[in-house]
Amino acid sequence: MTSIFFCGNCGYESAKWMGQCPGCKEWNTLVEETVSKSELKSGNIMSRRNAQAQVLAEIDIRQEDKLQSGIGELDRVLGGGIVQGSLILVGGDPGIGKSTLLLQLCRNLSDAGQKVLYVSGEESLMQIKMRADRLGDFAREMLLLCETDLGVITEVIRNVQPRVVIIDSIQTMYNENISAAPGSVSQVRESTGTLLQVAKGLGVTIFIVGHVTKEGTVAGPRLLEHMVDTVLYFEGDRHASYRILRGVKNRFGSTNEIGVFEMGDKGLREVANPSEYMLSGRPASASGSVVACTVEGTRPLLIEIQALVCQSNFGIPRRQTTGTDLNRVNLLMAVLEKRLGVALSGCDAYVNVTGGMKITEPAVDLAIVMAVLSSFRNVPLDTGILAFGEVGLSGEVRGVSMAGQRVAEARKLGFHTVLVPAVSAPDCEKQQGIKVIGVRSLQDVMEYIFG
Ligand code: TYD
Ligand code: MG
Repeated sequence: MTSIFFCGNCGYESAKWMGQCPGCKEWNTLVEETVSKSELKSGNIMSRRNAQAQVLAEIDIRQEDKLQSGIGELDRVLGGGIVQGSLILVGGDPGIGKSTLLLQLCRNLSDAGQKVLYVSGEESLMQIKMRADRLGDFAREMLLLCETDLGVITEVIRNVQPRVVIIDSIQTMYNENISAAPGSVSQVRESTGTLLQVAKGLGVTIFIVGHVTKEGTVAGPRLLEHMVDTVLYFEGDRHASYRILRGVKNRFGSTNEIGVFEMGDKGLREVANPSEYMLSGRPASASGSVVACTVEGTRPLLIEIQALVCQSNFGIPRRQTTGTDLNRVNLLMAVLEKRLGVALSGCDAYVNVTGGMKITEPAVDLAIVMAVLSSFRNVPLDTGILAFGEVGLSGEVRGVSMAGQRVAEARKLGFHTVLVPAVSAPDCEKQQGIKVIGVRSLQDVMEYIFG
């Protein structure tokens, strides 16, 4: 037996304890685990026998048939459907709705005649049944198992031969060959290794639930990202009802796709038109509110940017952001001060992306600038105007990708005018029924909105 310290966040191994993990730079995430010598040598996933190199040109590709989950938003994020024999990690904060989403997936698949097995290490059969009753009736193809021993689970999978298996959650599972406790780094990693063998060996698709943990007492899903085929994160504000499913890694499709859901009393409901959803409850005429169009994956999404600028009472003004990068906002305010002479250095500023979305795309720069200007002057802007574009340090407005699709989305939601970067304007002018205004610099913007 030896003692090893593992980082609960990234899996970094160290012989001694350290306050900060050298791998991911997180503090206080190293935990001690005892590992026997033989375990350290394990990790041989593929069998050594029958190893033969293949000629690439001779490998024939069967068109991977993707199984439709019956949840359009989930299929989109998965890249068109569920690939047979893949290992999919669904991460997220506890209570966000991972079990609910996967139970709904099971319901759809079993209704379509596919055999599914839901393995829970967290809830009893009764608890799952109670939740399932809220979601509706289940077909006979839906099987439940409450078990945490992976040896037993593997045996059941071998006997039942389901098409899809759900493991809820990886932090409760254990492999009896490993002495560490369930949820520890080595246990989580080894269990995932076992599931990987089962998925590839038997051709079943396995969804693994992983709770995101901040304290580092149990290992988080970040640790497993490299082992699985697809990583999905389920996010959202606990206090708001909508949830966003985000693809972070996908060996079978594009990443950065999102699916939007709403949690109701009968489980999760797909939100077909997220832009409309994000803009609901927008104030009619308030200063500091501008709508921008951001692109998530291949999907344009309208979001409202709000700014509140007021005189600072202290020497150092306070700047705060929700849903967007604070440094970016500071930079944009410096550009406004220098290029347009707006006296913002004595002002507190708060910038908020409503609906709890997190936006990192520079295309929202223009909307942030306009919201700050509108709030600074306390002049509400026309609510039928939308803006997108990146703002450079000289105050120029630079082009962004997919301008045409963004304008189309704006038109669909009834905006009458869009401010776009001048270089992107030719792409957008084909659109009927919406006025496209190309802007070259912040001076142009200022002139347009304040005359
Ligand atoms: P759950 O799927 O158990 O979360 P996770 O598996 O990610 O920990 O979701 C639990 C929350 O969802 C719980 O707070 C109750 C809520 N919920 C609803 O609001 N409506 C429903 O129909 C269901 C099934 C759950
Ligand atoms: Mg759960």
